[in-house]
Amino acid sequence: MDMRDEILEILVSTEEIQKRTTELGQQIGHDYDGRNPLMICILRGAVVFLSDLIRSVPIHVMVDFMGVSSYGGTNLDSTGVIKITRDVDANVAHRDIIIVEDIVDTGLTMKALVDLMKTRGPGSIEICTFLSKPQRRKVDVDIKYCGFEIPNKFVIGYGLDYDENYRNLPFVGVLKPEVYEKRKEEKG
Ligand code: PRP
Repeated sequence: MDMRDEILEILVSTEEIQKRTTELGQQIGHDYDGRNPLMICILRGAVVFLSDLIRSVPIHVMVDFMGVSSYGGTNLDSTGVIKITRDVDANVAHRDIIIVEDIVDTGLTMKALVDLMKTRGPGSIEICTFLSKPQRRKVDVDIKYCGFEIPNKFVIGYGLDYDENYRNLPFVGVLKPEVYEKRKEEKG
């Protein structure tokens, strides 16, 4: 079965994503010229965005990965208390850090991440997120690079999942309501 049959609406198309990631890559290249920033990808959702983004950055960058989960969180809501499931290998002290996320929703995860990174003495920290849902924000986060601001809808694709599925869709979409019903029935 083609996953596309399960999509109600496409919110951000493949073409729009390509155009915007190219713009962001150019902008990062311009802003960090001569500085070799460390781009930290937050697993798992941001891997798709990161892999497109870095190929649009024309300067030297380094890449590392961090796994984060939200204590007591659900698929819909995080708590702001994060558990590092995989830490970066790099020493971030004095480095120019760019945290790369798939989505900033309440902002709680990103705030906790930035606070943690600050304790490690980086040279600078900026945020680059593929998506942002400003209407859902509970804490202020200063996003320097944002792909798209989207309305408060549950979105999947281009790295974002529902129950670990749909990350491999090449666009951002909204699922048909019956998909949730069917999955709940399957899980009992
Ligand atoms: C998502 C996203 C952020 C967080 C944002 O992660 O990647 O880390 O939620 O939510 P917040 O702004 O409300 O804190 P998720 O737990 O879905 O993990 P995943 O990237 O592995 O899918």
